[in-house]
Amino acid sequence: MFLLNHHPDYRSALHPEDVETLGPAGANAIAAHLAERPNHVPTPLHSLPALAAALGIGALFIKDEGQRLGLGSFKALGGAYAVIRLALETASEALGRPLGDADMNDPAVREAAAGMTFACATDGNHGRSVAQGAQLLGAKAVIFVHGGVSDERVAAIARFGAEMVRVSGTYDDSVVEAARVATERGWTIVSDTSWEGYERIPGLVMQGYTAIAREGLAEMPERPTHVFVQAGVGGIAAALAAQMQSSFGEARPFFTVVEPSRAACIFEAAKRGKPGKIPHGAPTVMAMLECYDPSPLALRVLYRAADAFMTAEDSDAVEAMNRLARPSAGDPAIVAGESGGAGLAGLLAALRDPQARAALKLDGQSRVFLVNTEGATDPARYAELVGLKPEEVA
Ligand SMILES: Cc1ncc(COP(=O)(O)O)c(C=O)c1O
Repeated sequence: MFLLNHHPDYRSALHPEDVETLGPAGANAIAAHLAERPNHVPTPLHSLPALAAALGIGALFIKDEGQRLGLGSFKALGGAYAVIRLALETASEALGRPLGDADMNDPAVREAAAGMTFACATDGNHGRSVAQGAQLLGAKAVIFVHGGVSDERVAAIARFGAEMVRVSGTYDDSVVEAARVATERGWTIVSDTSWEGYERIPGLVMQGYTAIAREGLAEMPERPTHVFVQAGVGGIAAALAAQMQSSFGEARPFFTVVEPSRAACIFEAAKRGKPGKIPHGAPTVMAMLECYDPSPLALRVLYRAADAFMTAEDSDAVEAMNRLARPSAGDPAIVAGESGGAGLAGLLAALRDPQARAALKLDGQSRVFLVNTEGATDPARYAELVGLKPEEVA
């Protein structure tokens, strides 16, 4: 299913605050931060000419976030960055002098951070990032997970020294519970989704994601004509849409947001023209995208800078994982987790549907940019769906 953007704000200028957070200055800020992180290397941008030819498009590029900062997903860019920025701000206030990313290991910063507790809700990947950021500075992290988060994903977060709290219900229930407990205990909540009166921190998290566009566009031989990005609450899609808008203006690529058909909260918000929750559906294999309440901050950007919204089926996601794991001759093999390949899942679904293909302006000249947002963050599930262990791919 697809929907062209018909919001009254469509194609109007981004909100000035969003330009500041997610435009060139935001991308510069995360780039400066990454330069100070010991294990930072830009993630690879792969060209897949054989798959592009098989699909009847001109070129296909995938920015592979599977190894980002050793965490297995693009979320490594957001939560940890926000935690470190907030700790630096607190330390700077306490010390009465400005501090930057290069001061991350200053004993005074570590002393201030030791008194801070960062909390968040997660489906898996965001919590791992928040926990990593807290561990890097010696702060505490308390991570809330709902019943659907696999034990393997919980263990991967706990390895960063975080305290784990299981909450009944869905991701959205865990967001509410994390915010409630954090407020009660005076902890700092580092959420990847926004709500009324709470935009600055999710804005910082999204600012971290702008690095994907900055790095990816610098490596592209030619600018993309199309971008397909998967969405949970819409954070990564909005960060990339804002970057496309600020980099190319009116000449920006055609931008499509992809969601699982079973959890299409952005799609519904695009249809209705305003943010709001959707009813819970059956679980989707794209577990990290299973969100029923979009981020209003992300929507403010997407209403202006996205061109289309579409849904993909679980079978499309599994097909995308398999196509990337077993490439045609000449293409690299890519390990894409269930949600990681969802952008490709959307592209596959759009190309199969003649109406969508035409409406999204896809043809033999299209140069498509996608993001593999995660590697095999749940290796057992990956092996089940692909028939190969992650280490057997490539
Ligand atoms: C692997 C992966 N891809 C995509 C997303 C969607 O990101 P957002 O919630 O910012 O839309 C997530 C969110 O957790 C994720 O973990």
